[in-house]
Amino acid sequence: MKTDQGAADGITQPLLLWYDNNKRSLPWRETKDPYRIWVSEIMLQQTRVEAVRGYYQRFLEALPDIGALARAEEPYLLKLWEGLGYYNRVRNMQKAAIRVMEEYEGRMPDCYELLLSLPGIGEYTAGAIASIAFDRVAPAVDGNVLRILARLWGDASDIADPGVKKAFAKRLLAYIPQDRPGDFNQALIELGAVVCVPNGKPKCGECPWREICIAKKEERTDLLPVKSKKKERSIEKKTVLLILDGSHVLLHKRPKSGLLAGMYEFPMADGWISAARAKEMTAELGLSPLRIRKSTEAVHIFTHKEWHMHSYLVTVADTMPEAKAKKTPWQEYVLIPPGELDKTYPLPSAFKAFRHIIG
Ligand code: ADE
Repeated sequence: MKTDQGAADGITQPLLLWYDNNKRSLPWRETKDPYRIWVSEIMLQQTRVEAVRGYYQRFLEALPDIGALARAEEPYLLKLWEGLGYYNRVRNMQKAAIRVMEEYEGRMPDCYELLLSLPGIGEYTAGAIASIAFDRVAPAVDGNVLRILARLWGDASDIADPGVKKAFAKRLLAYIPQDRPGDFNQALIELGAVVCVPNGKPKCGECPWREICIAKKEERTDLLPVKSKKKERSIEKKTVLLILDGSHVLLHKRPKSGLLAGMYEFPMADGWISAARAKEMTAELGLSPLRIRKSTEAVHIFTHKEWHMHSYLVTVADTMPEAKAKKTPWQEYVLIPPGELDKTYPLPSAFKAFRHIIG
């Protein structure tokens, strides 16, 4: 009945027909394997399709099923995710994989509610997996889908409001066809990516809804959607210390919780500190700084903050291992040959700009 309504008012069928003729060929569209679809959807949050392609193949070759993900050592896992950023995404995937192994005999649960109960799987992702992998009628509404629906319906509600998102999802439910819910959701995503685009003018001439879109009819595509501004990101000044002796570089392990939890970083100070202070800090670790010079500057943007980083390259006497044996704060530090940075210690993207300096 619901399907008929969608077909009757020209929403569902024209969209599916357009999708059949225009969809991009993407590796995660060749499978019904819920694990693969899950991996793709998590990677595609915050990362562009073209960038995801390579990571997707590599990840699945390394960890071909849920059991392999559940068993992976964390450093290996983070290494596979390196470059994608937002590392909690993959940490949560592993937590969810462990739950799936323990509670569901290694098989991904096949309904929206159970998917939603797993770590890292929110409403959008639960809807995407339930519909694409299991043919469940469930909406998958992200920011791109909100944009096209606001235009289609000529609705000026604030799409940043979670209540509006819920209302849109509920309204959309009536148009999801029983026989192709996954294709319907992917068609919406596709329309948002290639026609009703996020930046710049929508290509209304190519849109399957050009006859019924209210924003187009009323020439309001540039006014919709309405989206209230997010809080501005805070800016934090940092100084990165690249501390090297003849054969090692010093890394610091971040605290267990919070931003980049448990990851290794170059030691870092708050603020932009002077060379003299940087030398002092190095000495406070029981090291003997020989030379110091100013090095690269970099900016890294997180969701809620920006790090504006200066850096110093500090060369110290070959005494790091001895200092390490003596000093208490050293349990938070590791000393490694620079080559191991790429093999064993995944460096968060925030520090990538400094990687080449270490050699
Ligand atoms: N973005 C989020 N999910 C996607 C999908 N399944 N295909 C293409 N882009 C996407």
